[in-house]
This record gives sequence, structure tokens and C-alpha cells, in this order.
Amino acid sequence: MGTPAYVYDLDGLSAGARALEASFGAAPHLTAYAVKANTAGTIVRALAAAGTGADVVSGGELEVALGAGIAPRDIVMSGVGKTDAELDQAIGSDIYAVQVESVEELERLAARARAAGKRARLGLRVKPGVMIDSHAHVATGHDAAKFGIARSELGMAWERVDAHPELLGVGVSAHVGSMLRDVDPYLAAARVVLDVVKTRLASGRSLEYVDFGGGYGIDYGGAPAPAPPAFVTQALALLRAEGLDALRFVIEPGRSLVGPYGVLVARIVQTKQSEGRRWTMIDAGMNDLVRPALYGAKHRVELLHAAPAEPEWRVVGPVCESSDDFGAHPLGPAPSGLVAIRDAGAYGFVLASEYNGRALAAEVFVSGGAVTHVSASPGRSAWVKRRLEA
Ligand SMILES: Cc1ncc(COP(=O)(O)O)c(C=O)c1O
Repeated sequence: MGTPAYVYDLDGLSAGARALEASFGAAPHLTAYAVKANTAGTIVRALAAAGTGADVVSGGELEVALGAGIAPRDIVMSGVGKTDAELDQAIGSDIYAVQVESVEELERLAARARAAGKRARLGLRVKPGVMIDSHAHVATGHDAAKFGIARSELGMAWERVDAHPELLGVGVSAHVGSMLRDVDPYLAAARVVLDVVKTRLASGRSLEYVDFGGGYGIDYGGAPAPAPPAFVTQALALLRAEGLDALRFVIEPGRSLVGPYGVLVARIVQTKQSEGRRWTMIDAGMNDLVRPALYGAKHRVELLHAAPAEPEWRVVGPVCESSDDFGAHPLGPAPSGLVAIRDAGAYGFVLASEYNGRALAAEVFVSGGAVTHVSASPGRSAWVKRRLEA
């Protein structure tokens, strides 16, 4: 097999998505898969077949979701800086809701809808003021975050919605961030959303949906997180307790639907020992999987054909940055052959770059124990050609 390559377990991710779907019971709902986590069409289609819709944050992701056969009624668009062209695309595609993140965006949405001669369906994304115990770069619901509308400005935001005949306010959303290892912050944000919903309903207006966002953590090795259905069942109990379970319950999971079902396979290029230090150089680098360099993320690295054994080696990539480092792993006395970097299905390939003149990795999709599809690497010569033409 050519390396580096991402390998995905389609059966695993389909089963995970089906279990999540089942946790809603008969409640009206939408699992809006956060496409940003992994945009591969094969994966979006597999998840859609298991019942998910999509949460998209760009025109490109919207095209992928629609192209994968997801119905517009099952697509929401989030994002703090949607361009006019992206708003036009969302309005023109009749998606379920544009989740507006500022009063200024709301005004632009109204103008674009007016120009299109259409009525835009929108949700207000609330800044719930919830800080999570996660890396600062993935916390999005606290008061200083760029995301969402401050609670103090929601009254004004609804007034602006109501002032525009081209706008139809249909929902309220929040997203506190990623890698939640406990349900409490999720429920805290859900309570804020429900307060906003109750205030809106008390004003005589109607709503169609609530969206508590995504962010369910996964176990990258040693730090377990609740299974995704735990978030749904507890939030659903909250909705029922408030008598708001007739609303469509939307969630936006990304990582938890795909992360555990992908590995990045790399080949050991060589080892290096010097002054008591041990390094294992592999042919995947931070350009292929940037999470360790970007967030200090830890992924398990295992030899594909041998059990873990002492001593530990620092597994590093070839990129000319000291942050191109996948941490220390027990690879035995003489590491060689292939390694798997585990739990790389989310925020892996989608964040890859061609830095250092390195071609993007191939992607291999497996189902029923067989490879069903391969998305080949564009290869180095494609990169060379493009740079020479630049
Ligand atoms: C608005 C929004 N929804 C959902 C997600 C998905 O989060 P996760 O992959 O942690 O479930 C993100 C991720 O950043 C997001 O920004």
C-alpha cells in the first residue's frame, strides 16, 4: 500500500451513526453531521444513508452535502463569516436554516433574500457563555468567543428579524466547542437555548427547531468520553421537562461520528539514536495530520504488525518544524514497517496541506472487510506542475 494513507472503516461509522439516530426514539430530530470533520463524499454518503443530514460552514461544504444527496431540508449552515455568495447559495438551495451569528449578518441575509426574491429561513446562534474544559482553540461558547450573538443582543436581533419580511426566524442554536468529556456543559448551553426559545414563544412567535450543537468528545487513548447517545438522551429529557419536545431537535456532531473510524497509515523511513534519545521518522507529517502541532493533540501510534513493546520512541514526521511530532510510543527494540496513527478520521485529511512540497495522502475506504473505494493521492508531480505555473 502506498503511504501515507488514511483508511476509514465505513461499517463502524455507519453503525455509530445508526446508534445515535436510535437514541432519539420517536422525537422529531436532525443529526446535522458537521461536514467539516471529514468532507469525503464516501463518508458523507455513508452517514446520510444511516440517517444524518449536514451542518455546513462554507459554500464548498454545502455543495458536498447536496452532491452527496442530502435533502436541503436536512442542512443547516453555520459559520461566523459567511460571504454574500455563500448566503446566496444557501438561500438558493432552500436549506433548512442559515444559523446567523451576528446582527450584521442578519441584515446581509435580509438583503440577499430580497435580491433573490425569496424568504430566508434562519436560526439565531446564541453565545451561551459556557466555558468548557478543552483546548482554548476549540472552545467556542464563552463570552469572548467570536461565535454567536451575545444574550444581551438577542432582543434586538429578533426585532430585526421581525422587521424584515424576507426573513423567517425558525430556530435557536448554540455550540460550546469540541472534545466534551462530560455532558454538563452541553446541558448548560441547552438550558440557555431553551430560555431564549421560551422568551421567543412567549412573545407570540413560533419556532420550528432547537440546536444544541456538537462537540461530543472521543477517547484518543486513556481519557474516555460519554458515548454520543448519552448527550442526546439527556438533552431530550431536558426538552421533555420543558414541554418543548415538539420542536425538531437538531444536533451537530462531527468528530464523534468519524474520528474513531479512521487511521493514518505511515511507513517508518528510518530510526535515529543519539545521546540516549530515540526517534522514529515516518513518512506522514504534520502536513497530513496537523492536530498534534495545532492543539497538542495526542494520537496513539502503533506498529501495524507487532504488539506494543518497550522502549518508547519519539515518532516524528519529515516536515521541517519541531512541532512535527506525534509523541512517544512503545515501538519495540527495532521499529520498522508500517504504523497506524489511530483515531484520525476527524479533522485529519480535511486539515492537510502540501507544505514542504508533500503530496496529499490517499484515502482508502473499507467495508465488509474489503476496500470499496480509493481516493488516490494527487501525487507529487501535480504539486510541482501547479507551483511551476504559479
Ligand atoms: C458550529 C459547529 N457545529 C459543530 C461542530 C462539530 O464539533 P465536533 O466535531 O466537536 O462534534 C463544530 C466544530 O467546530 C462547529 O463549529
